[in-house]
Amino acid sequence: MRRKLVVGNWKMNGSLAANAALLSEVVAGLAGAKAASAVCVPAPYLAQCQAQLAGSALGWGAQDVSSHASGAYTGEVSVSMLQDFACSHVIIGHSERRAYHGETDAQVAAKTVVALAAGITPIVCIGETLAQREAGQTGAVVAEQLGAVLDAIGADDIAKIVLAYEPVWAIGTGKTATPQMAQDVHQVLREQLATKNAAAAGGVQILYGGSMKPDNAKELLAMPDIDGGLIGGAALKAGDFLAIIRAAD
Ligand code: G3H
Repeated sequence: MRRKLVVGNWKMNGSLAANAALLSEVVAGLAGAKAASAVCVPAPYLAQCQAQLAGSALGWGAQDVSSHASGAYTGEVSVSMLQDFACSHVIIGHSERRAYHGETDAQVAAKTVVALAAGITPIVCIGETLAQREAGQTGAVVAEQLGAVLDAIGADDIAKIVLAYEPVWAIGTGKTATPQMAQDVHQVLREQLATKNAAAAGGVQILYGGSMKPDNAKELLAMPDIDGGLIGGAALKAGDFLAIIRAAD
C-alpha cells in the first residue's frame, strides 16, 4: 500500500512574514493526518523552513537543483547546499523550468542522478502541452520524458524517486485533468517504471499536479494510481492545502 504524499510547490511566492504564518497554520492543522506532506520553497527560505519545521510532520525541499557539484555556475544551487538545509525533497524538471529555462530531458535526468546520490528524494515532473494532447501525443511525450530519467538511474533507484504527472495545460489554468484522464496516464507510467524494476514500480508514488484544489482533490486521489498531489496555487493558502492533505487520508 502506497502512502499518499501531498507536496506544495510555492513557486516564486512568499516572504519571511507570510511564510511564518502559513507554515505555522499548516503544521498546526496536520495533527493526525495520514498522508505525508512537504513544501518546496524558493531557496532563500530553506533556512526558515529548517528552523520552523524541524521535528514537525511537514517536510521541506527545493524547486530545482544544479547538476553540477560546485563552481562557476552563477545563480545555481548545488545539492550539497540543499543537504545543508536538510531538504527531504527536490522538484526536478517542472514544466516551468523546461519552458522558461530550456531544461532538457538530459538535464532533468542528470539532476535526478545528483539528487539520488545525495539522498534527497527527487520529484520528477513530466507532462504534455495542450497541443501535444490534442495531437494524440500524450503517451509518447511522457514516455520519452520518463525514459530519459530511467536510462540514467539504476534499477534500485526506482524505489527512491517520486514521479509527478503534470499536464501543462492544467497548471495554474483552473483546468484539471479528469480523474480518469489522469489515472490513464499514471497507469501507463507505472507500467513503464515496471520495465526497469517490476518489483519496485508498485511502490512508487505518482503525484498528479495541475489545478488540484479542495473541491476536486478527493476524486483525483481516489484513483488507484494517483498517490498524491503536487500543488501550486492552493498550497499558498493553509486552509486549502490542509483540505487537500485531508482529502488524501
Ligand atoms: O507544481 C505544481 C503545479 O505546477 C500545479 O500548479 O496547482 O497552481 O495548477 P497549480
